[in-house]
Amino acid sequence: MHNQRLDRLTDYPFQRLRALLQDVAPAAGVEPIAMHIGEPHHTPPAFVSQILLEHAKDWGRYPPSNGTPELRTAIADWLTRRYALPADFVDPDTHVQPVAGSREGLFMAALATVPTEQPRQPAVLMPNPLYQAYIGAAVVSGAEPVLVDATLENGFQPNYEELAPDLLDRTALAFINSPANPQGSVLSLDRLRALVTLARRHDFVLAFDECYGEIYTSEAPAGGLQACAALGDDISNVLVFNSLSKRSSVPGLRSGFIAGDPDLIRMIRRLRDYGGATLPMPVMAASAALWADENHVEASRDLYRRKFGIAAELLNGHAGTQAPGGSFFLWLNVGDSEAAAQRLWQEAAIRVLPGAFLAHQTERGNPGQPFVRLALVDDLDTTHRAFQRLANTLPANP
Ligand SMILES: Cc1ncc(COP(=O)(O)O)c(C=O)c1O
Repeated sequence: MHNQRLDRLTDYPFQRLRALLQDVAPAAGVEPIAMHIGEPHHTPPAFVSQILLEHAKDWGRYPPSNGTPELRTAIADWLTRRYALPADFVDPDTHVQPVAGSREGLFMAALATVPTEQPRQPAVLMPNPLYQAYIGAAVVSGAEPVLVDATLENGFQPNYEELAPDLLDRTALAFINSPANPQGSVLSLDRLRALVTLARRHDFVLAFDECYGEIYTSEAPAGGLQACAALGDDISNVLVFNSLSKRSSVPGLRSGFIAGDPDLIRMIRRLRDYGGATLPMPVMAASAALWADENHVEASRDLYRRKFGIAAELLNGHAGTQAPGGSFFLWLNVGDSEAAAQRLWQEAAIRVLPGAFLAHQTERGNPGQPFVRLALVDDLDTTHRAFQRLANTLPANP
C-alpha cells in the first residue's frame, strides 16, 4: 500500500546518475573529482561551530516551530538590507518562517497552498529543466505539473506570461528560480514585477526560489520582495525562499526560510505545526549570526568568480563556458548529455550531471538533453585540475 501519486515521480537525478555510471570504470590512477552535486565546499566561518557549542545545552529543548524571534529578525534585517526594502516592509513575526533548508519550504508551501476542493484540477507551473522538489511538491499536492521550457531562445527562463489565460486561471502556484539551477540565468527586476502582476491578475501564488541569489559575478540579482516593494507596499500572492546552504556553504546545517504573504505564511505554519521539521535551537542561533554577516559571503563569492575565470580560460571554445549571471553552475552544451557524462567519468574521472536528468520529457522533447551541469564547488586547485581534464576530453563546440 502506498501513495500512488509517488508513482508519477522518477528516481532522483543522483540515483539515475549512479545507475548510468555503475558499469563504467573511471580513468585508472586518476583522482576522481565530483562536479555533479551542488554541495559547496567553501569553508564556513569559524563562529558557526563556536555558536553550536555554546548553545549545546539547548539540544535538550524542543525548539519553537515558528523559529526564534532572533532568527526571524536576523532574516527580516537581511532581506531589508539585501534588497533595499523600506524599513518595516518585512515583519519578522508574520512574514518570515524559518525552515529546515529551502527544499522543505518549497515542498510544504505547495502542500499548504494548492487548493484541494475546486471544480478543475489546479496547475502548478515550473521551469523545465528544474529543481526536482517543484515537481514532487506539485504531484504530491494533487496538482497538474505544467513544465515550461527554459531554453537558450527564452534566456533559460520560462515565459509564463505567454501561457493561455485559461491555464493561468487554474494555476494555483508557479515556481520561479532566479538565479536558476542549472543554467544560472537571472531575471531582471522588470521581469519579476511583471510576474508578480501576472500572479495577482490570475490569483496564483508565485514562489521565488532565490537560494543562489548571493552567488553572482557582477550585478546582485533582483528578488521577489524587491519586485513587490517596487509595485507598492503589498506582498500578497508572493513567497520567497532562501537558504544558508549556498550563501554560507553550510548545506548540512539545513537552514533556510520562507518570507512573504502573511496569509500564506499562516497556512504554512499550520501545516508545519503538524508535520514540519523544526530547526534545533543551536542551529537557529548559528543561522541568525550567519544572516547578519556579509564578510564570509563576499569571500565565497570572490572564490566562485575566480573559479569561473579558470573555466573561461581553460575551456575557451566550448559552448556555454561564460560565467552565468548567478549560481555556481556551468551548463555546457555537449551534444548528448548521458554519453558525455559516461565519457567524462571513463576518460577523466570527473562526475557531472546529465542535463537530461534535470529536465523532463514533454511533447517538445527534453530541453536538458544536450547539456551537462558542472558544479564549481571545490577549491581552486581541484577546479584547475578538473578544467584541464575537461578541456582535453570534451569536444570543442559540438
Ligand atoms: C534551485 C534550488 N532550490 C532549492 C534547493 C534546496 O537547498 P536547501 O534545501 O539546501 O536550502 C537547491 C539545492 O540544491 C536548489 O538547487
